[in-house]
Amino acid sequence: MRTHVLTYGCQMNEYDTLTIQSELVSGGHELVDAPQDAELILLNTCAVRGKPVEKVVSLLGDLRQERRRGRHLAIGLMGCLAQLEEGQAIARKFGVDVVIGPGAITEILPAIEALERRRAGSDGNPRRDGAATRHAGAPVEHLHFRDDLVEHVTPPPPPGTQTGFLTIMRGCDHHCTYCIVPTTRGPEVSRPLAAILHEAEAMREAGVQEVVLLGQNVNSYGLHDPDLPSFAELLRLVARVGIPRVKFTTSHPMNFTSDVIDAIAEEPNVCDYIHLPVQSGSDRVLRRMAREYRRERYLEIVREIRTKIPDVVLSTDVIVGFPGESEADFEQTLSLYDEVRFEHAYMFIYSARPGTPAHTHFDDMPRELKTERLGRLIERQKHWSLEGHRRWLGRTLRVLVKERAKDGQYVAGHSDQNHTVLMPADQVRRLGLHQVRVEHATPHTLYGVVEGARQDAVPLRLAS
Ligand code: SAH
Ligand code: SF4
Ligand code: F3S
Repeated sequence: MRTHVLTYGCQMNEYDTLTIQSELVSGGHELVDAPQDAELILLNTCAVRGKPVEKVVSLLGDLRQERRRGRHLAIGLMGCLAQLEEGQAIARKFGVDVVIGPGAITEILPAIEALERRRAGSDGNPRRDGAATRHAGAPVEHLHFRDDLVEHVTPPPPPGTQTGFLTIMRGCDHHCTYCIVPTTRGPEVSRPLAAILHEAEAMREAGVQEVVLLGQNVNSYGLHDPDLPSFAELLRLVARVGIPRVKFTTSHPMNFTSDVIDAIAEEPNVCDYIHLPVQSGSDRVLRRMAREYRRERYLEIVREIRTKIPDVVLSTDVIVGFPGESEADFEQTLSLYDEVRFEHAYMFIYSARPGTPAHTHFDDMPRELKTERLGRLIERQKHWSLEGHRRWLGRTLRVLVKERAKDGQYVAGHSDQNHTVLMPADQVRRLGLHQVRVEHATPHTLYGVVEGARQDAVPLRLAS
């Protein structure tokens, strides 16, 4: 079948999409770039907050319209939403044909075969009308967590790809009270070392310049299996594969141990960039969230990081308006910002997810209050982002350019420390790594010139 896969959510879904695509190709299916050319559209979905779910529902509504107008199209719901009752109800409502959870993505080929058998009419010939699919009954479902998925080796991304994602563990054993991920992704399992190193080596051979190790809590890699290295050891082993940059996400403060900090400090190609979600600066809220650390422990980790890696860039995730968050609690988050001075933060309004303990046991607060607090937090973050960015003025960063310019004036890239860096388009003639001297800083972006390029070629119009 001509198939198109749409990916929502986090980098783990992007990684899973590569697995799904490689399975499709090995099953003789064709991948098409444009959704309108597809006979099968697979949605690799996210359910972490209400918004990504709404996006999928709206797309399913559009696709239902197209089928009603006579388009022959099968639809598959995959990813985190598919694993939830919420998603399965949506699938039934919109006549989705295949529902496959994130623990069963390698079932895609048998699922398509089952779908094709169903679509075959009584004369044994495939029926071409979409209606045959819609009324064929319940969707083909695979919702179990396959034990062997962690051994599955995903081929490297297509040639020319600069960044490769590499999942080192699946699932999550934490039970943060707001979070749906442990339900959608199942229990924590570390992937075998050989599979990880094999994928990293294949990426290096394919010319990938940056590998991002992925897991919900990469620091707990190998904790349950004495035969596996620790995360710090794994980081060093991957670094020695020889890809110019190694990044990783996400770290849980609970087991962000000194050996991990040492590995980052000592391995030259492990980037001096750490994403360390704090979620809240208030111990009362952290306790209600069932995060297993407290504010002081978080600050202690930050102090150790900054001592050992002076040029480190820190980013975080924060949830604003968690049930019961008082003004005093929120101010604790603001004051934590002032102490840590994150260069970047992903700030989310709390979204009550059905099935989570916080949804069951706590009352949501008015949206206006959450929005108002988010606004204040964004302002504070802008201040620290700008301060943080300014310290790079006049210095040279190594910047990875992944795509050609979108508009004429600038090309965007990312530094080793994950800054977004804009360079004049005429100074960037190829993809890959560039040395860039920083000339101007805004809260969101750094502007720089490629070293060695003629700086008078185009006057650099600085945005603010
Ligand atoms: N495993 C990672 C986070 C994965 S989800 C960790 O523990 O850090 C990514 C981010 O989404 C979380 O860090 C959290 O800030 C946010 N998030 C998760 N559930 C949420 C919810 N119900 N409402 C708002 N934000 C949420
Ligand atoms: Fe969700 Fe917490 Fe697990 Fe992160 S550690 S995925 S926030 S339950
Ligand atoms: Fe979303 Fe699932 Fe990732 S819920 S954030 S796609 S783990």
